[in-house]
Amino acid sequence: MTVTVIGTGTMGQGIAQVVATSGHTTRVFDAVDGRAIKAVKGIAEQLEKLVAKGKITHDLRAATLNRLSAGTSARDACAGADVVIEAVPEDMKLKLEVLQPVLEVLAPKALVATNTSSLSITELGARLGVPDRTVGLHFFNPPPVMELVEVVRGLSTSEETISRSLDFVRGLGKTPIVVRDVPGFATSRLGVILGAEAMRMLEMGVASATDIDRGMELGYRHPMGPLKLTDLVGLDVRLAILEHLQREIGEQFRPPAILRAMVRAGKLGKKSGEGFYKWVDGVPVPN
Ligand code: CAA
Repeated sequence: MTVTVIGTGTMGQGIAQVVATSGHTTRVFDAVDGRAIKAVKGIAEQLEKLVAKGKITHDLRAATLNRLSAGTSARDACAGADVVIEAVPEDMKLKLEVLQPVLEVLAPKALVATNTSSLSITELGARLGVPDRTVGLHFFNPPPVMELVEVVRGLSTSEETISRSLDFVRGLGKTPIVVRDVPGFATSRLGVILGAEAMRMLEMGVASATDIDRGMELGYRHPMGPLKLTDLVGLDVRLAILEHLQREIGEQFRPPAILRAMVRAGKLGKKSGEGFYKWVDGVPVPN
């Protein structure tokens, strides 16, 4: 198939890597000039590391890169695509602005997928005018490593769309779960509540960030504590999810003051070099 990924932040780049490695012709596009080309280079480097570790062959890297390209415009990148996956920031208006203009150039029955962590698939599909073909494909960070993809069924998403989505996700080597379109789906509402509570504990001085994380890593065998994970995901991403869930579900999702302050200060986590930790060469160092 031909698959287009729009938005080449951490998630978009990672999703494109997975899709291209799985054999699909893959195009990426980002509204920020030069960012799509940077993502292709980033994927080439990631694949080089996998070759060096003996995880993939040199031939698979070369074939994957042959299938991967950066589009010069969203419409150019989407022309004839069988699947479009949107991975732009968590803002319904932005998602509509990105997807609406490309609908007419996609293949006739193309899947219109969004990687949103919490926004309504039902609303997106209705406002795009293609509710039956709109679906949530929620990947996890880092996409090349994480096994799960939530397949989110909007109120009017067709059975055919769900079935094609499940085939697509399995073909990427991932395990899908089908989830009803409720705010925060099955994972985000649990994930962000743990992160938010860890932040409130930090505000109260219960323990240091490192020790709160160590508690969950050693006591509960989480691969990564909730504050380190917030740094990995991005503090801005977590704030947007919490704000949305506070509006949709209730006060238990009110964003902690420390999160709001850190986002305002530009401390967004790993991608900005500092969050609850300092990130040096991709490794968290206690602040
Ligand atoms: N891209 C590709 N591969 C990566 C990677 C990345 N960004 N980060 C790590 N890896 C690979 C490493 O190369 C390594 O591979 P090998 O085993 O083949 O050598 C493997 O993952 C393990 O990495 P490390 O040994 O460096 O470190 P680790 O064992 O601590 O694992 C981790 C790192 C996979 C990120 C692990 O800590 C983990 O699973 N953390 C939790 C991640 C998580 O919960 N993600 C979900 C976030 S929520 C979300 O994404 C949804 C949302 O809507 C916000």
